[in-house]
Amino acid sequence: MEQKAYIIGDETVKKYLRVEDVIQCVEDTWRWYGEGKVVMPNKITTDMEKLGIHGWFNSMPAYIGPMDVAGIKVVGGYDANRELGMPYIKANILVTDSRTGVLKALMNGDYINDLRTGAQPAVMAKVLAAKTDIVTIIGTGLQGYTSLLCMSKVLDMKEVRLCDISEAAMDRFIARFPDAPFRFVKCKSNEEGCRGADIVITVTNANANLVEEPWLKKDSLVMTMGSFRETSFDVVRKADKIAVDQVGQSLHRGNVKELAEMGEITADSFDIIVPDVLAGKAKGRTNPEDRIYAQIIGTGMLDVACAGLVLKRIEESGEQIFSYDMSK
Ligand SMILES: NC(=O)c1ccc[n+]([C@@H]2O[C@H](COP(=O)([O-])OP(=O)(O)OC[C@H]3O[C@@H](n4cnc5c(N)ncnc54)[C@H](O)[C@@H]3O)[C@@H](O)[C@H]2O)c1
Repeated sequence: MEQKAYIIGDETVKKYLRVEDVIQCVEDTWRWYGEGKVVMPNKITTDMEKLGIHGWFNSMPAYIGPMDVAGIKVVGGYDANRELGMPYIKANILVTDSRTGVLKALMNGDYINDLRTGAQPAVMAKVLAAKTDIVTIIGTGLQGYTSLLCMSKVLDMKEVRLCDISEAAMDRFIARFPDAPFRFVKCKSNEEGCRGADIVITVTNANANLVEEPWLKKDSLVMTMGSFRETSFDVVRKADKIAVDQVGQSLHRGNVKELAEMGEITADSFDIIVPDVLAGKAKGRTNPEDRIYAQIIGTGMLDVACAGLVLKRIEESGEQIFSYDMSK
């Protein structure tokens, strides 16, 4: 029996996926997860450091019931990429037939990974933000760019403040939004960026206290997206509400990992689980005065769902994409 598997490169993925599609796909997939229609084990990290390879990769499987898409994203951070002029993060996605396990597609996962990452704060802000006039982005790299790209599609923002240790990164970032309907402010310090901001997003590869609690106003929303610590512990401890995109993975990685290791944060500490809010099973923001802290850890279901969408569109288009018969 023929086992036709598409090999789908970056240009093809971009051709079949618009930014708006990814935002909708993230919102739908989170909602389905909240409704119990997605199967997704926690991601597993393979850290190669102790054997001399400066890198790690996560295995992130999921099955999306409403789309009938099964697959896995393998995504990692590789130090060597910088010297090669490639982004630090590299992703590949594999889609299999849910009933037989036959490979349906092997896809470059970079564009999906970057865009779904940026779509997350956009969807989360719709659910959790009290105001969206002043948005601060700490870390103006690739995921910072996709975050603003996606937020600009769904939020009404007046001022976007940028903070980064690299002036050049901020300049490159601004140049990517030539027709921005909001004004950019390059901040001299993170404190300047955070004071008075409605939304603060951290999306760096730092492991440091980039945000301090006294700088935040009471109705603000802080969303951390980096893989390590990005705020002081008090930003989490003193928040009125703590929100997450998914419970299990949030305890093992990202900004709250150390608090979880100290026993200060447990699965019960999370007041708002965003997929449950989208599913109508729980409330999001209930008090306009609350300061909400949210950790967006990132989940494989989003990548697998987006990959399923690309595959569906390719099949509908009738375009002859390169494929290989895996029975050969
Ligand atoms: N949560 C998710 O879903 C998700 C998904 C993908 C990547 N990530 C994580 O997002 C982070 C950023 O990834 P990226 O691809 O944008 O990397 P990148 O290298 O393109 O950008 C990182 C930016 O952070 C800046 N930075 C580093 N230290 C800083 C500091 N102390 N203060 C201010 N800025 C600082 C750098 O100058 C750079 O501009 C990484 O930790 C990555 O693992 C998270």
